[in-house]
Amino acid sequence: MATIIDGKAIAAQVRERIKKDTQRLLSLSGIVPGLAVILVGNDPASKIYVRNKKSACEDVGFKSFEYLLPPETPEAVLVDLIEKLNKDPEVHGILCQLPLPKHIDEKSVIQAISPLKDVDAFHPVNVGKIMTGEYSFLPCTPAGVMELITSTGIEVEGKKCVVVGRSNIVGKPMAMLLLHSNGTVTICHSKTPDLKKECLEADILVVATGRAKMITGDMVKPGAVVIDVGMDRDENGRLCGDVDFEEVSKVAGYITPVPGGVGPMTIAMLMKNTYTAAKLTVVK
Ligand code: GUN
Repeated sequence: MATIIDGKAIAAQVRERIKKDTQRLLSLSGIVPGLAVILVGNDPASKIYVRNKKSACEDVGFKSFEYLLPPETPEAVLVDLIEKLNKDPEVHGILCQLPLPKHIDEKSVIQAISPLKDVDAFHPVNVGKIMTGEYSFLPCTPAGVMELITSTGIEVEGKKCVVVGRSNIVGKPMAMLLLHSNGTVTICHSKTPDLKKECLEADILVVATGRAKMITGDMVKPGAVVIDVGMDRDENGRLCGDVDFEEVSKVAGYITPVPGGVGPMTIAMLMKNTYTAAKLTVVK
């Protein structure tokens, strides 16, 4: 039976460290990190994510600024708000919750955020820095996954790593971080001819496809570290991941649960990036 990686507990440790660093930053420089979160529309899942981000800010001692805009908000109004926040000295991080309504061009919005306040690390400048390894911010989910892997005590260096999913938010940067840690990395996707064969070779398997329970026990190498980024619903409407936990936990060495695995780490890493953005304004 696999050891369960407790993302909730590890995220709580990260947040505790950030809380202490935030108190020190305040006493040394008078700065309180501030995060602005923008939500356009009424998507219920996005509303929950935004609420969780706000309460995480309060928990670690940040200021949080929330902008809830109606679904019909024109793109120009959203970009104007972002430009105002780019200039606001109390705001160190800006996050615009995705997805955006269809009439708004996501790329234009991401590019409107100052790279220095881009705590999602979605701006092309920050994406480029991830490629070369000179980053200030890492995208929150892949950064959280790296912390979870580190918590197992298993070194990435020299390991065969397989990432299933190639999104800009998770799959692609995830592969890059594993590569920076000297893993040998394969990225699989919907057109990969033999997914089972690729997964069976993985010492470290990271799954981010959005397809409920698609990784079954027969696809996993005994003893592997399995990280499940999915947040799906099963046939009974219950929350589950992209990995069939019941089957895979009998084969893997380590596994993350859903919920309580990657999710809490993503928010902890957002707090870390916001703290870093605030600290960078002092060092400059
Ligand atoms: N929607 C789902 N995940 C994310 C995320 O990490 N950042 C933003 N901005 N929107 C999201």
